[in-house]
Amino acid sequence: MLIHLICAARPNFMKVAPLYHALKNERWATVVIVHTGQHYDANMSDAFFDDLNLPKPHVYLGIGSGSHAEQVARVMIEYEKVILDQKPDLIIVVGDVNSTMAVTLAASKIEFAGRQTNGQRRPVIAHLEAGLRSYDRGMPEEINRLVTDVLADTLWTPSIDANENLAREGISPNKVRLVGNIMIDSLEMLRAKIEAEQTYQRFNLAPKSYGVATFHRPSNVDDSATLTALCNTLKDISNDVPLIFPVHPRTRKNMQQNGNWSEMESANIFLPEPLGYAQFMNLVFNSRFVLTDSGGIQEETTYLGIPCLTVRDNTERPITITKGTNQLCTLDDLMIKTKALLHDDCRSRPVIDYWDGKTAQRIVKIIDKEIRQGVAVS
Ligand code: UD1
Repeated sequence: MLIHLICAARPNFMKVAPLYHALKNERWATVVIVHTGQHYDANMSDAFFDDLNLPKPHVYLGIGSGSHAEQVARVMIEYEKVILDQKPDLIIVVGDVNSTMAVTLAASKIEFAGRQTNGQRRPVIAHLEAGLRSYDRGMPEEINRLVTDVLADTLWTPSIDANENLAREGISPNKVRLVGNIMIDSLEMLRAKIEAEQTYQRFNLAPKSYGVATFHRPSNVDDSATLTALCNTLKDISNDVPLIFPVHPRTRKNMQQNGNWSEMESANIFLPEPLGYAQFMNLVFNSRFVLTDSGGIQEETTYLGIPCLTVRDNTERPITITKGTNQLCTLDDLMIKTKALLHDDCRSRPVIDYWDGKTAQRIVKIIDKEIRQGVAVS
């Protein structure tokens, strides 16, 4: 069975890695890693392949940066050629980035002569991390989630709320499988490596003496007044506790253009380049709290029992609030909520069903039992 595992951007690599490692041991599976090249910097891409023990991508589309339409269009054009050439039986897309949706769109309209998978003349499309919804169509990721879930043939969800979202949208439960949170597989797979790093020492800091910050969402970093307000708040917080803020390329560029950079550098804030997976997770493991607008970090901090403040109006991962350590906040209350955390940071480690490091194993079983049997050449 020829399986394409699609990855594109930083948050995808840790979702693809556990599946790659689980599938490569199955004699019936030939796994091809397709990297669209949406993220291309060494520290946004290559570093993750090294940390996660992934081979170099077998196929690299090199689509790079651009507007949403440009990125989506380039992925569709380039990936369509690859599908027609390789004729995969199964295409697995992960997460909610532009490439996730673009690959799904391209694959949905393909027709192969003489081949069938589960009765269709095109590859089966599986979406891993299906069903998450922020209910905010102003977020490009929400559009990507909606389109991908409506087109994919099989939807693998991380938690029960995602199944409920899909049911509300009229998607048949026959298509949906609750498989769990794949990022926890990566975290557990690499726990020893993560724990062996001592990233905080690079900044002369001790465990639990600092906070981690990550911000890259357009809603926080693209508007100049909002970005300045964010930088000012982080500077104020750093008067109480040092912050380590590995800066995403989008954020760095905007902070430099907007004149925020030198003031941030002179505060009690470290501003390294984006870090690799193990180094970054080591910082999170040993932090007192995390301030972020990322999706995945809300889940990782919940799993680890580390307080997290998410500077967004909504989250597609509400379970991190109802069961976990996450709170939404605005720029106006970020300072006060951080101060509150500094006085009360002893939340226990929550347990969420299927966030157990066994998601990849469950997926391999599903592919074997429910998809592999349907592959036929007619
Ligand atoms: C993308 C995803 C977002 C995810 C984020 C993680 C979409 C719509 N967005 O946003 O969901 O949370 O990745 O990082 O798919 N750049 C570089 N080097 C790189 C990559 C990007 O310099 O390797 C710069 C470019 O100037 C680019 C900008 O960062 O224009 C933004 O990159 P892009 O891929 O468009 O979106 P992200 O903000 O990274």
